[in-house]
Amino acid sequence: MKKRLGIICLFTLLFATFIAIWDYSYRKSLEPAYTPLKRRITDRIPLESGVFRRDKHALDYADMAIDEKHRHSIADYYRNRAFPGAPPTIPHPLLDERSMGGKDCLSCHENGGFVPKWNAYAPVTPHPEMINCRQCHVAQKVQTQFRGTNFEKIPAPAIGKGANRASDGRPPVIPHSLQMRENCLACHAGPSAPKEIRTQHPQLVNCMQCHISGQASTTDQKPLRERI
Ligand code: HEC
Ligand code: HEC
Ligand code: HEC
Ligand code: HEC
Repeated sequence: MKKRLGIICLFTLLFATFIAIWDYSYRKSLEPAYTPLKRRITDRIPLESGVFRRDKHALDYADMAIDEKHRHSIADYYRNRAFPGAPPTIPHPLLDERSMGGKDCLSCHENGGFVPKWNAYAPVTPHPEMINCRQCHVAQKVQTQFRGTNFEKIPAPAIGKGANRASDGRPPVIPHSLQMRENCLACHAGPSAPKEIRTQHPQLVNCMQCHISGQASTTDQKPLRERI
C-alpha cells in the first residue's frame, strides 16, 4: 500500500512539474521579441559622432556673454596658418621648451578660458586626444620669413551673407572638409571663436541635422541655387 501511494505521489509530482514547465515555455513563446528601441533611437551615426564631443558645454556657451574687447576675427585666424586647414603655429612663448604637449598644453587648450598674461582667450583644441601637440604645431621663432618664396596661400572658402546659403536665413552648408573638423563646437562656439563664425545657437547640439557638407562629391552637380 505504502509503495503504491509512493508511486502515485511520484507520478503526480512529475505530472505537475511537466504542466508547470510546459505552461512557462508556452507563456514565454507568447512574449514579443525584445527590440531595444530606445538605444537604437539615441545611437549616433558613427560619421557624425564627433559633432557631439563637446555637447556637455553647449548650454554654457549659449549663456556666455560676448567680450567685444578680446574678439578675434577670421583674418587673425588665417594669419597664423600657412593655408586653410594647416596647423596654426604657436603664437605665444612655450612654458616648457622640452615639453612635447599633453597636459602642458591641454591645461589651457582643453576647455579654453581667458589668459590674462597674454590678454587673449585660449582657443579650444578640436583634437585633445592627439597629445604630441608639437609634432604638428611649431613655435614662432621669428615674425617674418627668412627668405621670400613663391608659395601662395589657397584662398579660404567664402562665408557670411550670400555664401553657402540657398537664400537668406537658411542654414549654410559646411564649406570645409570634415577631416579633423568633426568637433564643431570647439571652433564655432565660445569667446575664442572668430566673430564671423561664432554660432549664435551652440545649444542646437546636433549641427549636421541642419548643416550638411557643401563639398560636392561628383563634378556634374549643378550649383546649389539651380538645384532648388
Ligand atoms: C597658459 C595657457 C596656455 C598654455 C599652457 C598653452 N597655450 Fe596655446 N594659446 C593660449 C592662448 C591664450 C592663445 C591665444 C593667443 C592669441 O590669440 O594671441 C593660444 C594660442 C595657441 C595656438 C594658436 C591657435 C590659433 O587658432 O591660431 C596654438 C597652435 C597653441 N596655442 C598651441 C599650444 C601648444 C602646442 C601648447 C603646449 C606646448 C600651448 N599652446 C600651451 C594659451 C595657452
Ligand atoms: C597630427 C597633427 C596635430 C597634432 C598632434 C595636434 N594638432 Fe592641433 N591642429 C592640427 C591641424 C591640422 C589644425 C588645423 C585644423 C583646421 O583648421 O582644420 C589644428 C588646430 C589646432 C588649434 C586651433 C583650433 C581652431 O580654432 O582652429 C588648436 C588650439 C590646436 N590645434 C591645439 C592643439 C593642441 C593643444 C594639441 C595637443 C594636445 C594639438 N593641437 C595636437 C594638427 C595637429
Ligand atoms: C578646426 C576648426 C573648425 C571645426 C572643427 C569646424 N569648423 Fe566650420 N568653419 C571653420 C572655419 C575657419 C570656417 C570659415 C571657412 C573656412 O575657412 O573653411 C568655417 C565655416 C563654417 C560654416 C560656414 C559659415 C558661413 O557663414 O558661411 C559652417 C556652416 C560651418 N563651418 C559648420 C561647421 C560644422 C557643422 C562643423 C562640425 C561638423 C564645423 N563647422 C567644424 C572652422 C571649423
Ligand atoms: C535647427 C537647425 C540648425 C542646427 C541644429 C544648427 N544650425 Fe547653425 N544655422 C542654422 C540656420 C537657419 C542658420 C542661418 C542663420 C541666419 O542666416 O540668420 C545657421 C547659421 C550658422 C552659422 C553661420 C553664422 C551665423 O550664426 O549666422 C554657423 C557658423 C552655424 N550655424 C554653426 C552651427 C553649429 C556649430 C551648430 C551645432 C552646434 C549648428 N549651427 C546647429 C540652423 C541650424
